Amino acid sequence: MTTTDNAPASGDTPSEFGLQFELTPSSTARDDAEREVILSDPGFGKHFTDHMVTIDWSLDAGWHDASVHPYGPLQLDPSASVLHYAQEIFEGLKAYRHADGSVWSFRPDANARRLQRSARRLALPELSTDDFVESIRQIVRADLDWVPSAPETSLYLRPFMIATEAFLGVRAAQEVAYHVIASPAGAYFTGGVSPVSIWLTTNYARAGKGGTGAAKTGGNYASSLLPQQEAYENGCQQVLFLDSSESNYIEELGGMNVVLVKKDGTLVTPDSDSILEGITRDSILELAEARGHRVERRRVTIDEWRDGVAGGDIVEVFACGTAAVVVPIAELKGEGIHIGSPAAEGGELTMSLRAELTDIQYGRRPDVHGWMTRLDA
Ligand code: PLP
Ligand code: COI
Repeated sequence: MTTTDNAPASGDTPSEFGLQFELTPSSTARDDAEREVILSDPGFGKHFTDHMVTIDWSLDAGWHDASVHPYGPLQLDPSASVLHYAQEIFEGLKAYRHADGSVWSFRPDANARRLQRSARRLALPELSTDDFVESIRQIVRADLDWVPSAPETSLYLRPFMIATEAFLGVRAAQEVAYHVIASPAGAYFTGGVSPVSIWLTTNYARAGKGGTGAAKTGGNYASSLLPQQEAYENGCQQVLFLDSSESNYIEELGGMNVVLVKKDGTLVTPDSDSILEGITRDSILELAEARGHRVERRRVTIDEWRDGVAGGDIVEVFACGTAAVVVPIAELKGEGIHIGSPAAEGGELTMSLRAELTDIQYGRRPDVHGWMTRLDA
C-alpha cells in the first residue's frame, strides 16, 4: 500500500490537513483494449471503473480510514440501517477531458455543499468541502484513463453516503460510510439532445411539505419509479411532478429541473422547497442573466405552462441536470392534458445556452465564472 498525495486542506476541513487517502491498486484492472471497447460506447450508468473511494465515519472517531481501492461489492451487515430506513444520500457530477488531455470537474464545491445540506436533512455526518473535492480528485487520478475524450462524453462521478451501523432501532446511525464510484458516460437519453416527451403524473407526488424533496436521497427516487414506469408506458422519457398539496404547481422531473422560456426572453423556473436545487439549472440561469435575460424563480402553475404555450407566450421549455445536461422538452402529456407536439424542435435559446455551458465544461470557452476545478494535476 502507498499513500497518495493529499495537499494540506484549508477552509472548512475539520482536521488541519484533511484526510490522507491510502491507495490499494486493483490487480484486476481492465487492459487498454477492454477499456477502449467500453469507452467507445459507454451509454449511461452501465460500466464502472477499476477503483472506488471509501471513507468511514463513526460517532466516536469522526471521518477516518480514507482509501482508494479496487471497485467491488460492499460488505454490509443485513441489519445496516440503510437497508431498512433508507438513511442514504448521494451526488452526481462529471469529469470532463479537455482537448489538451487535462481533466476537470464543474463546480464540485457546489456538489459538496449540497451533500452537506442533504446530510443535515438525513441526519448523516457532513463531509467537508475539501475532503469531498479531494475524494473526487483521488478517484479520477486512480482511473484517469477511464475519462473518455469523444465529444459529449465524460466520467460520471457518483459520491454516496450510507448508514452502515448494524442496528434496528429507528435513530440516526452512529456508523456511516462514504464512497465514490465512477462510470464513463455518453448521453443520458438514447436520443441524445433530441427533444423529449414528458409525462405529467397526477396520481403520485415526489415529495411533500417538510419532507426530503430538497435532499438528494434515494427515497425520493424510489417514490418516482412507479410514475416513471407510467411515463415509459405512455411513450415519455421522464415524469413531471406537481406540488403535493394542491397538485397545481410545477415541481421538477424525476431526475432533472425544468425551465420555461417566454417570448420576451424571460426564463421562468419553479421555486419550491421540495425540489432539488440543480447546479446545472443555477449555472444556465446565471449564463442567461449574463446575456441580459430576465430570470424568474417563482411558483409556476400547470395552467400557466398550458395557456402560455397555447397563446404563444411560452416558446421553449427544457429540462436540465448533470446527467442529461440540457434537453429540450417537445411535449407534456397526462390524463386530460397535452401541451406541445412530439415533433417540436429544440428552441434556439435552449440550444445556445446548452452550447455555452458545455463549451465551458469541455474547455472550449474561457471559464470566466471560475467554475472549473482541475483534477489530474
Ligand atoms: N432534480 C432532480 C430530482 C435530480 O435528480 C437532478 C440531478 O441531479 C436535478 C434536479 C438536477 O441537478 P443537477 O443539475 O445538480 O445535476
Ligand atoms: C444526475 O443528473 O446526476 C442525477 O443524479 C439524476 C439521474 C437522472 C442520474
